[in-house]
Amino acid sequence: MSDVHLRAMEERDLDLVAAAELELFSEPWSRRLYEEERNRTHDRCYLVAELNGQFVGWAGLSTGAGEGHVMTLATLSAFQRRGIGRLLLAGLVEAARALECTKVILEVAVSNSAAQALYRAAGFAPVGVRRKYYERSGEDALVMILTLEEYDA
Ligand SMILES: CC(C)(COP(=O)(O)OP(=O)(O)OC[C@H]1O[C@@H](n2cnc3c(N)ncnc32)[C@H](O)[C@@H]1OP(=O)(O)O)[C@@H](O)C(=O)NCCC(=O)NCCS
Repeated sequence: MSDVHLRAMEERDLDLVAAAELELFSEPWSRRLYEEERNRTHDRCYLVAELNGQFVGWAGLSTGAGEGHVMTLATLSAFQRRGIGRLLLAGLVEAARALECTKVILEVAVSNSAAQALYRAAGFAPVGVRRKYYERSGEDALVMILTLEEYDA
């Protein structure tokens, strides 16, 4: 989508992000957690997506030991299936490269077929399962990895 653009997550976004977390995630992150994550500028990248200036999604990446880790990624319900998630993911991968990562890893709920489809389409491959990864639901997570040389989105 040409009129969607990404920018760094700012303090002024945190209320919107925290509210959207409650809607989109069963184990939502708090505003405080986002504040802490966002302050770690040396090894984190938190982005928001805007459509005509309106907040429509966000994503976050942590890095360490040459590995990027997708911490969060979401598109507001009313704006899903318009390529925003794909754009956010591409932004995280670009950030991972800039922070000298050679691969990006993530966990996704085994029941979350939409997110898995997004990740697969971007070249992530399943490499294992973390049992009972999600505390509240007890659901397993699929672990997926992207080797950066293979990324082509
Ligand atoms: C997963 C999520 C981020 C996808 O965001 P999105 O902006 O709708 O994704 P996009 O429009 O960029 O989709 C890109 C591709 O991903 C796949 N995809 C996305 N949503 C899908 C769905 N509901 N069903 C099947 N495939 C889907 C498709 O391959 C899609 O390409 P296409 O539309 O050309 O077929 C969004 O559904 C969401 O926010 N879900 C709730 C939060 C969440 O689960 N986050 C992931 C945590 S690991």
